[in-house]
Amino acid sequence: MYKDKKVVFSGVQPSGTLTIGNYLGAISNFKKFSDDYRCYYCVVDMHAITVRQNPAELRRRTYETLALYMACGLDPAKNVLFVQSHVSGHAELGWILDCYTMFGELGRMTQFKDKSAKNADNINAGLFTYPTLMAADILLYQTDLVPVGADQKQHLELARDIAMRFNGIYGDTFVVPEGYIPQNAAKIMSLAEPTKKMSKSDENENAVVRILDPRDVILRKFKRAVTDSGSEVRRGEGKDGVENLMSIYSAFTGKTMDEIEREFDGRGYGDFKAAVGEACADKLTPIQDEFNRLMADKAYLEKVMAEGAREAAHDTLRTMSKVRRKVGFTEMPRY
Ligand code: TRP
Repeated sequence: MYKDKKVVFSGVQPSGTLTIGNYLGAISNFKKFSDDYRCYYCVVDMHAITVRQNPAELRRRTYETLALYMACGLDPAKNVLFVQSHVSGHAELGWILDCYTMFGELGRMTQFKDKSAKNADNINAGLFTYPTLMAADILLYQTDLVPVGADQKQHLELARDIAMRFNGIYGDTFVVPEGYIPQNAAKIMSLAEPTKKMSKSDENENAVVRILDPRDVILRKFKRAVTDSGSEVRRGEGKDGVENLMSIYSAFTGKTMDEIEREFDGRGYGDFKAAVGEACADKLTPIQDEFNRLMADKAYLEKVMAEGAREAAHDTLRTMSKVRRKVGFTEMPRY
């Protein structure tokens, strides 16, 4: 292996304003790998166009997602921060892997089923092959570890299957990646319907807390969060709402579920919800300040994008040329 460090890759779509689910489930975990791994954190704009986007908005959100990466503590000197469409290897490998992925496998993806139900008028081929492009993202960098939210587990399994299949046919080509799915905060649920995942595209704004929501909005949303007819802050049957708030509180404070049950013993939901809101807002305020500072400096963001793309593109060359040779393409002429 030519790598001197193990590799981490993850991606975030610039398709909506990110929620605390995205933050706790994925982005907040990215930083801890920066010292020991070669880290690629990608803004996956090519994935975003699997559902119809407003072009100006997509462009703005691409900048925002990059700024948010940095505001959450990812230093561009220690991580390769880049935009997917700037590195052509993603599309190239994506196509090749399409030819090693079965129709039936893609049809079983629950995210495809959900999204095609939601976008019945635009069930395009890209929506179907979305997981193959994601596999390409990962395999292109010989990735060892992929930090993602629990909802991406099935896609990750597929990426592993594709890697093993390709290796089985052609001999060792790709590292078979492992997922890194945080235990406690992996799945943040909707504040309005706590059996449903918190989704950045939810139409009910009260169901979602966004990373960029102002403090008063955060406090209000938690205050309105659905709980149950009881009054005890503890886990249990029919207490999905409370349990969700507990895991959010746990993720923002580092306290365990047992500690939280003790802390709020006999204190009721009002107190508890206020505490969850405060903990969340305290964590997000400095991130928001840094985000605003970065968004005001577009030239700097463009410099980071360019440098990231240059590094990432360079790092794909070896794998791409290996893959081309293995599948039987003739050598790329210089032109
Ligand atoms: N599908 C991921 C999501 O929606 C985003 C993503 C695209 C990704 N490519 C990736 C995540 C590669 C990890 C690795 O959250």
